[in-house]
Amino acid sequence: MSDTATFEYKGKKIEFPVVEGTENEIGIDIKTLRASAGVITLDPGYKNTGSCESAITYLDGEKGILRYRGYAIEDLAEKANFLEVAYLLIFGELPNKEQLDKFHSDIKANSEVDEDVKKIVDSFPRTAHPMGVLSSLTSALTAFNPSCVDINSEEDMYNAIVKIMGKFPVLAAWTLRRRNSKPYDYGNASLGYVENMLYMMFKKPNEEYKLNPVVVDALDKLLILHADHEQNCSTSTVRIVGSSHAGLFASLSAGVSALWGPLHGGANQAVIEMLEGIKEDGGDTAKYMEKAKDKNDSFRLMGFGHRVYKNFDPRAKIIKKSADEVLGDLGVEDPVLSIAKGLEKQALEDDYFVKRKLYPNVDFYSGIIYRALGIPTEMFTVMFALGRLPGWIAQWREMRLKKEPIGRPRQIYVGENLRPFVEVSKR
Ligand code: ACO
Repeated sequence: MSDTATFEYKGKKIEFPVVEGTENEIGIDIKTLRASAGVITLDPGYKNTGSCESAITYLDGEKGILRYRGYAIEDLAEKANFLEVAYLLIFGELPNKEQLDKFHSDIKANSEVDEDVKKIVDSFPRTAHPMGVLSSLTSALTAFNPSCVDINSEEDMYNAIVKIMGKFPVLAAWTLRRRNSKPYDYGNASLGYVENMLYMMFKKPNEEYKLNPVVVDALDKLLILHADHEQNCSTSTVRIVGSSHAGLFASLSAGVSALWGPLHGGANQAVIEMLEGIKEDGGDTAKYMEKAKDKNDSFRLMGFGHRVYKNFDPRAKIIKKSADEVLGDLGVEDPVLSIAKGLEKQALEDDYFVKRKLYPNVDFYSGIIYRALGIPTEMFTVMFALGRLPGWIAQWREMRLKKEPIGRPRQIYVGENLRPFVEVSKR
């Protein structure tokens, strides 16, 4: 017989089934709590709430473990490329050569974006934040591809997936090109998926674009490391929007908006802005360490701490090595990076940070790499979105195939009780 957990309230005892995951994580299945006891659980921020059972990504924040479909992130970052990882996340298994080639050529065949989308891109101010533009453009794709995805048709699902995998990088690149006043480019079909991303973003109209293998490798790794992270804020957003049966593109557009925030994907931009601020203020890292610790000061050390990784972020370990390689290879000398190194060292030795287990997270280093690669700061979170795309798709697909119910949390109402309406003239 499987385990149960007993809940007692006002003398009434109720048994709830206990669910055990494949990595022995335990959850109490409280689906019937309200119906049987007339109460709900209260957990703002969902620190103790599992929203689903998922077979995509496993992470253990205490041990610093991250796996996609059972494969260690360290192996994937070292041995696979981003497109293989995307296939793995979405379809559950690593592709063989034939499957991978087909996936890539189907993505390429679907990468064309309607010419009229250019008019939408042109209508944004050049100063608009790229994440706002990307979210709008992703949503606009729904208008240009109105047919619904029949989730019972594998072919329909597959077509929607290769469409968005093809078009999303084009939209991201056009967002950058609009900002930089460069003509829109559809890329080069002879290039790899990641190589083509760089080409579409940085190719100058009258110049050949030369790919730097160090840059390609670093970007490939970064995209892999960001590809999924179980039920984080943007992924939960994608799942909850999709749970209303809104389409894939609309759900992804909401995911982009959720990722934008500085407490989530926007942290990589916030890291560089913080470092630049410290530099402009004279480069006194000790002063900023004190500000971060001062409870009367809202300043936080961006790029430090994580909701689930409480010992170290395994992605940060991998990418720190990559950051050192890229900076060495490209010969980058940048005072902002020296400030980053100073902060990193001080925080790792500081009692406040050590006690609270606040370590540099992946975004501390990803911002540094993007800067070294010449990617504008405001585009950092767009790069994150490019990496997270297959994870969002995989989670949306899983949620729809499992026919999960619409996401609709409850609340405890703490507002006014019923009161009489007062006419405007008497208020
Ligand atoms: N600088 C200073 N103090 C911090 C920081 C920080 N970056 N992060 C957490 N703390 C402190 C809090 O003030 C709190 O202190 P207290 O116990 O004395 O009250 C304690 O550490 C716990 O912090 P919480 O906010 O409760 O931790 P939570 O898990 O809710 O938040 C978060 C995690 C949002 C990532 C937080 O650490 C933070 O704001 N970090 C900076 C932003 C950042 O880098 N975000 C990127 C996350 S990674 C990603 O999205 C890919």
